[in-house]
Amino acid sequence: MCGIVGYNGKNSVTDQLLDSLELLEYRGYDSAGLATLNGETGKVKLRKCAGRVTDLRKICHNDKKISTCGIGHTRWATHGGVSDLNAHPHRCGDVLLVHNGIVENYEELKDHFLLHKELKSQTDTEVVAAVLNRFYNGDPHEAIKRTVKYLKGTFALVVMFVDQPDVIYAIRNVSPIVAAYNDNGTMLASDVVALGATAKEYIVIPEYVITELHREEIKMFDLAGRQIHPEFIKIDWDTTQGGKGKYPFYMEKEIMEQPDALKATMEQRITDGKIDLSSDGIPDEVLCGCERICVVACGTAMHAGLVAKALVQSKLNMHMTVEYASEFMYEDPVIDEKTLVLAISQSGETIDTLEALKYARSKGAKSIAVINVKGSSIARESDYVMYTVAGPEIAVASTKAYTTQLIALFLLVGRMAKARGIFDDAAEKEYLENLIQAPGKMQEVLTRKHDIHKIAREMLDAKDAFMIGRGLDYSILLEGALKLKEISYIHTEAYASGELKHGTIALITENTPVVATVTQEKLKDKELSNIREVQSRGASVVLLVREDFDLADAEYADVFTLPAMSDEFMVFPASAALQLLAYYVSMDKGLDVDKPRNLAKVVTVE
Ligand code: G6P
Repeated sequence: MCGIVGYNGKNSVTDQLLDSLELLEYRGYDSAGLATLNGETGKVKLRKCAGRVTDLRKICHNDKKISTCGIGHTRWATHGGVSDLNAHPHRCGDVLLVHNGIVENYEELKDHFLLHKELKSQTDTEVVAAVLNRFYNGDPHEAIKRTVKYLKGTFALVVMFVDQPDVIYAIRNVSPIVAAYNDNGTMLASDVVALGATAKEYIVIPEYVITELHREEIKMFDLAGRQIHPEFIKIDWDTTQGGKGKYPFYMEKEIMEQPDALKATMEQRITDGKIDLSSDGIPDEVLCGCERICVVACGTAMHAGLVAKALVQSKLNMHMTVEYASEFMYEDPVIDEKTLVLAISQSGETIDTLEALKYARSKGAKSIAVINVKGSSIARESDYVMYTVAGPEIAVASTKAYTTQLIALFLLVGRMAKARGIFDDAAEKEYLENLIQAPGKMQEVLTRKHDIHKIAREMLDAKDAFMIGRGLDYSILLEGALKLKEISYIHTEAYASGELKHGTIALITENTPVVATVTQEKLKDKELSNIREVQSRGASVVLLVREDFDLADAEYADVFTLPAMSDEFMVFPASAALQLLAYYVSMDKGLDVDKPRNLAKVVTVE
C-alpha cells in the first residue's frame, strides 16, 4: 500500500509531487508528505501531515516553489498510528526517505543498531532511514547496499541525501516502482498513473537495482555496480483518463466506462468470429494439458473467479477451485503440473496473490494471469498474461476491472472449450454471440441509472442488509455485497438463499433490507420461494429480476428489471445494477465514495 513518488526536473517540484500524490491516493490516504531539496541553496523542506493530499496542499501553499528535486508519499498506516509524526518522508541526519511495504525485522534492527534514542516515530520506515544514515559517508550506493542487506520484508524505498541535491535514489524488493521521462524531467512512482500525461513509456525498476534519478537521465545499477538497461514499456493508456471528467466520483465514471472497456477487452481477442488468444501467446497445449483449474485472487478479483468457476464446471466439466490468495498457502493446496493456476488481479501487485502464484508455480503448475496493469509484478511472474483493457481504475471499489476480468475469463473458457473439442463451430458462435451482447446489455442498465438511484434512497438508513440468491446469483451477490459494505458502511451479507433457514433468517426482522437477484432460468422458482420466506418475516425486498421472468402478482418494495441474456451472461447487467446501487447509497450518505475508510486499492502488504 502507500503511494510514493519522486521528481527531478525543471518544474516546481512541490506542484508536481502534489499532483502525482493525488493520483496515487487510491493506494492509501491516511497521511501525506513531501520533501524537497533546493539544488542551489542545499535547503531541505519537509512537509507532512495526517490527512489527505488536499491537507498537505494547504500547508505547502505558501512555499516558494523553486526546488526542482523532491520525494512524496501518501500513507496507509501499518506500523504506527495515523499522525503527523508517523507520516513520511522520514528524516534521519542526511537521509530523507519514503517507503512502501513492510520491514518485518524493524524491531531487531532498532536493537542491533542501538537506534531507540534517535527515533521519533513508531514506523518501520524511520528505522530504515536511521540505518541508511548510519551507513552513509558520502557514498549513496554503499549506504543503500549495506542497508538492504539487513532488511527483511517488502520495500520500495525512495531516498534523497541532503548533500546530493540533484539525485534521487531508489531500490525495491517486491513493492513496485516505475520510472519515466516526461517533458520536464524524470519521475518515479508506485504506479504508472502518477507519471504524468507526457510520459509515453516507462521502466519497471527491477528488484534490488539501485536507480538514480537525475534531471535528464535515469541510471540503474545492480548490486555489483554494473549498469543495467531495462526495457521500456509503452504507455498505451491515456493517463489523462485519470481525471473524473464530468462525474463527481471516479467510481461513477468507471461504472459508466464499462461497455467500452468490455468491448476493448473483447475485440482484440476475436478474429473472424472466433475466439483468438494468439495475441496473449497462450498455446492450446496449456489449455488442453491441464486436468484442473485453480484461481488465486483477492477481493473483487476473487469474485470474478467464482463466476468463472460456474462457467468452467458447466462448459468444461472440469474441477475448479477458487481460493482467497491470502489463505491459499495455509491450506496445503493440491497443486501439480496438471493444474492451471489463474491469478486474477487488477493491479497485478496484490502481495497475497503474487505469493500464491509463486507457490503454485514452485509446485509445477502452469499459470495465466488476468491483469489490468501492464508490466506489474504478477504479470511478470506468470507464464502467460491476459491483459484486461479497463484503463486506469482509481476508485478503491473495483467495477470496470471486475467486469473486464469476467470478459477475459469468458474468452479463456470459450477457447478452452474449443481447444478441448467441447465446442464445435456452432457452439462457439452461439457463445460468442451472447458475450458480444454483454456491453450493450450493461449499457441498458446504465442508461436507467436514475431508477436505481431511487431504490438506493430507500436504503440510506439501513444498518444491516442482506443479499440473497442461488448459484450464479449468489456469486454475483457476493460482489454486490462487497460493493455496498465497502463504500456505504452498511453491514451487508450475501447469502445463498437456500441456506437462510439454517440460521441467518433469524436476523430478518421488520423492514430488514434484502436485495435479491433472480436471473437464472433453472433457479428462479426456488429463488422466488426463498424471497417469500424472508418477506413473511418482514423483510423489505428489492428485486433485481430478469425482464422475461414472470413474477405472478407478488409484491416487492422495489423491482428493477434486468435485460435478458442467457443464464451465465446475466452477471453483466446484474453487476451494473448492483454497482450503481452501492454507489448511490454511498453518495447520498455523503461519504467519500472513492476513498472508503481504512481501505486502499492496492494491497501490497500480507
Ligand atoms: C483491494 C481493492 C479491491 C481489490 C482487491 C484485490 O482490496 O480495494 O478493489 O479487489 O484489493 O486487488 P487486485 O489489484 O489484486 O485486483
